Amino acid sequence: MVELEQVRMHLNESAFEPSRLVAEYVAKYISKLNLYSIEELEREFTRKLSSYVGLPEEYVSTFPSSTEALNAAIRYIRSRGLRLVTVWPSFHGLLDQVRMEGVDIGFIQLTPENFELDLVKLAREGSPDKALYLPNPNNPTSNLLFNDKDTLEFLLRRFGLVIVDEAYYEFSGYTVADFVREVDNLIVVRTFSKAFSIAGARVGYAIASQELTQRLMENTPMFSIATPSLAAALGALEDIDYMKKVVEKTIKLRDDLRKEVLGLGLYAPVSKTNFLFIKTPIPGRYIAKQLAQRGIRVRGYDFEEIRNYVRVSVSRKENNLAFINALSDILKTL
Ligand SMILES: Cc1ncc(COP(=O)(O)O)c(C=O)c1O
Repeated sequence: MVELEQVRMHLNESAFEPSRLVAEYVAKYISKLNLYSIEELEREFTRKLSSYVGLPEEYVSTFPSSTEALNAAIRYIRSRGLRLVTVWPSFHGLLDQVRMEGVDIGFIQLTPENFELDLVKLAREGSPDKALYLPNPNNPTSNLLFNDKDTLEFLLRRFGLVIVDEAYYEFSGYTVADFVREVDNLIVVRTFSKAFSIAGARVGYAIASQELTQRLMENTPMFSIATPSLAAALGALEDIDYMKKVVEKTIKLRDDLRKEVLGLGLYAPVSKTNFLFIKTPIPGRYIAKQLAQRGIRVRGYDFEEIRNYVRVSVSRKENNLAFINALSDILKTL
């Protein structure tokens, strides 16, 4: 058992170890590491994933992390000469790649405090030569930005391309994946890093129309997912019950943690993810630094609009308690 030095509540990782089957599948395929790839494993994984997604294999493409799936989408956006628009605050992990690819990006502010979509602004900004990126639920704000067909249809009509990042789909229970059968300007991106508890394996996937799936795969190198990672993801898919238990436990821990946070007199939007976005009376960076000195890592931000927030991943009960106690102590010193 590896002992970690710090309580990790800063990267939205799962607080639970992977399913037993993950270790089993990795062990099973490790003796084949002399090979670049194992077709049988790839076929089985693709089959299982397509069944999990509920769509034929032609609609699904796999990548070494959802970050890489997003990068493929950004390359596609550049190849079509589209501009990118996203809401703000949203997933800043995307921004470096966008800059690296030289894609023009614009931001549409979410409504203050409750971080909802401003449909009037979106309507105004929408255009066929723009791609819209929406994490749903949103990171870092933790809420669902929409959960109805009408909003999606409105966005698909207004924008040339819509990318919905469903990294936290298993926690929200809401998906737009089925729409890829009907439209060819929608890409849904998902990951094995959160509910499936294998962030270190780096496996993600995209769901899109057959033609769009082809385009996404065009610029992706062969054998890009390492065999142990593919085996880990197959093991995780073979144990959906375990994933569901992880989600159930995380949601319970999250809602308990939110009650404690509200009890301290702080605001946190209702979360549909495995983390909370907590408003702090002083800059979140300062709180994060103080917590780090007590061995607890959380995320603070330099971005002006979310300067007074910390993002805190749900952890195990004892860690959540340690976080609340430390936070309460820090607040008393202010
Ligand atoms: C909204 C969102 N998209 C993508 C990612 C990246 O996930 P992956 O580990 O698959 O690269 C994250 C990770 O925190 C995320 O929050």
